[in-house]
Amino acid sequence: QRVEWNAETASKGGYEHFMLKEIHEQPGSLRNTIHGRLNALTGTVELDEFPAETFADVEQVQFVGMGTSYHAAMYASSMLSSRGVPAYAFQAGEYGLVRPPVTEDTLVIAVTQSGETADTLDALRRAKSAGADTVAVTNTVGSSITRECDDTLLIRAGPEIGVAATKTFCSQVTALSLLGERLVEDITGTRTSDGRDLVEALSRLPGHVQEILDTSVAPALAQELEDSDSYFFIGRGVAHSAALEGALKFKEITYEHAEGFAASELKHGPLALVTPDTPVFAIFTGFEDDATLSSMKEVQARGAPVIAVTSKTDGEIAEFADYVLPIPETHPDVAGIPASVQLQLVAYHAAHLLDRPIDKPRNLAKSVTVH
Ligand code: G6P
Repeated sequence: QRVEWNAETASKGGYEHFMLKEIHEQPGSLRNTIHGRLNALTGTVELDEFPAETFADVEQVQFVGMGTSYHAAMYASSMLSSRGVPAYAFQAGEYGLVRPPVTEDTLVIAVTQSGETADTLDALRRAKSAGADTVAVTNTVGSSITRECDDTLLIRAGPEIGVAATKTFCSQVTALSLLGERLVEDITGTRTSDGRDLVEALSRLPGHVQEILDTSVAPALAQELEDSDSYFFIGRGVAHSAALEGALKFKEITYEHAEGFAASELKHGPLALVTPDTPVFAIFTGFEDDATLSSMKEVQARGAPVIAVTSKTDGEIAEFADYVLPIPETHPDVAGIPASVQLQLVAYHAAHLLDRPIDKPRNLAKSVTVH
């Protein structure tokens, strides 16, 4: 008997694609991201890289990143703003034109998996020359961004081969949540019970992601929704970032039209596109999100199939939705991570049905190091 073997199939560890392997690695990669960095008993974040009071003088935080990393940056900035820290996320490629004011009390956080993205390096250099303090949040030890930033927080996701970022997105959001908690403590001078709940939720995250991997109905759902015209993703706050990331993942590997919107934006234009052939994924991270619920009802009234990504599997949301992708009940700011895992699986299985070259989508590169 002959056994077919080559280095590539061996490194896929039995999975058909690196992307699927990397999606399934997430309980472990998230465990690495948080390892030694939080104390679930005391509810505190302990980052060796940033001793207490490191950020006490920071007046505002600007995040820069591209693609998936920009979505992680947006996610973090909305977490920080809602906790009382002035925070903004910029697409790194726009940073030099938008020219947001920077002082020496500005902290610029460059989010980049590879640490080599040209647009992100440019934005960082501009921020540095304007006097900002800089932190790199990256997966790559010794990358250009780590050499140029004042400090680095590694996301420790391990190597990612699939062009579509999966485990690095979830580890970026997790690392940024840890860093964010430290920023809130230093800048506002307070530790809140909400912060303790967040830390507790992060400690349970690897197990929550495992639950999704063990139970997801994404393969069947992808089949149900095949042959649609367009795929829309809506959410608010951190769920808006998760919606943009869900749409990006979907378009990158399926080549189908997919778009993400803030739930409230829907009625200001995109609703014109909604038909029975445009499934809408509605992402609920907060428990009481009436605006997303009413957007969900509006698209449903126009015949669109609605897929709710929610932890509330027995209330009004589930009652109105055509399909439910359940996520575990957790802190609302952490819930976007398991929601993203569900959407990664839907994108993967939809692309698989279409027989796309999932690990190497046309026209895309893992890392864009030129302009
Ligand atoms: C490319 C990749 C994306 C990635 C983006 C930023 O466009 O195809 O998956 O999100 O670059 O990459 P970075 O390495 O900076 O996170």
